[in-house]
This record gives sequence, C-alpha cells and structure tokens, in this order.
Amino acid sequence: MITRLTDNFLQKVYNLGIELHQNFKDLYNFESLNTEFNETYVYVDNNSVLGFIHIQSLVDEINIIDIVVDSSMRKKGIGCSLIEHVFNIYPDKRFILEVSCDNTAALNLYKKLGFVQISVRSKYYNGVDAVVMERKN
Ligand SMILES: CC(C)(COP(=O)(O)OP(=O)(O)OC[C@H]1O[C@@H](n2cnc3c(N)ncnc32)[C@H](O)[C@@H]1OP(=O)(O)O)[C@@H](O)C(=O)NCCC(=O)NCCS
Repeated sequence: MITRLTDNFLQKVYNLGIELHQNFKDLYNFESLNTEFNETYVYVDNNSVLGFIHIQSLVDEINIIDIVVDSSMRKKGIGCSLIEHVFNIYPDKRFILEVSCDNTAALNLYKKLGFVQISVRSKYYNGVDAVVMERKN
C-alpha cells in the first residue's frame, strides 16, 4: 500500500533518509515533508515502511526531491511503484529531478520510467556531476 506520510511512519522515513543525507532528520520534520507544496508518500507492507518518496509540487512541475527504498527490499519494484503513484496523482505535470551521475540504480530507475537527461551540474555533489532529468507528459 502506498499512502501519504503519517506521524507514526516518520521515524522510519528518518531512518531511510539517512542514506541520502546524514542529517536528514535535521533537514526535515513532519511539517516540512507535508506542506502545501511538499508531499511525502510511504510504501507500507505489514505496517512496515519499505520506502518513501518526497516531492515538491510547483505550478506546472513536480520535483522529485528524495526517494529511498529499504536496502533489503530493493529490486522488487517498490521504487517504480512510488514514482508511478505520483505520476498517477499528477498525470498532466512535467516531472524533474536531479541525481548523481554515479548512482546507477537511480539513473536506470528514472530512465525506465521515461526520464531523459536535460543538463549536467558539474561537480555538484562533492566533485561528482549531477544529472538533471525530466519526464514530459
Ligand atoms: C534508487 C532506488 C530508489 C531504486 O529502488 P528499487 O525499489 O530498488 O527500484 P525498482 O525495483 O523499482 O527498480 C526499477 C528499475 O531501476 C533499475 N535499478 C534498480 N536497482 C538497480 C541496480 N542496483 N542496478 C541497476 N539498475 C537498477 C532497473 O532498471 C530496475 O528495473 P528492472 O528491475 O526491470 O531491471 C533504490 O536503489 C535506493 O533506495 N537507492 C538509495 C537511495 C537513492 O539513491 N535514491 C535516489 C536518489 S534521490
């Protein structure tokens, strides 16, 4: 089941978020993950959070900020399901995201779902290039 983040799942989202930002818990709180423009969805199985996606919605564009799947549950389609869930909520919007050029799993996931590279931010992540991708409707 994929559902909007609720308070009882927040700690697990913090735990997963550490994979992307050591200080994830300092960067976000429940309110900042759920504002008028920020939405977070969790993939829940048997009351366990196996993954989450955090997006920002702008006027005509959805920015995928973070997506993480529990390391023991990867390669089972959960990442795809989370992104497709958001596609279904916003079928008419353009999607954009940014990803490190050495993150093969994420790059492949995004390509599989129709994202294409539109630019590169040189040495954006500690000397590693960031790839900016979009999926037009
Ligand atoms: C990127 C991530 C979210 C993918 O989640 P996932 O649930 O494993 O992805 P899926 O099972 O839905 O895989 C979908 C596609 O992604 C690609 N993919 C996923 N894992 C991959 C891997 N380890 N190597 C290569 N390609 C991979 C494949 O194309 C796959 O399709 P396939 O199964 O038909 O080959 C997950 O690896 C993760 O949490 N990584 C750490 C956090 C991160 O880097 N997030 C992205 C940056 S914000």
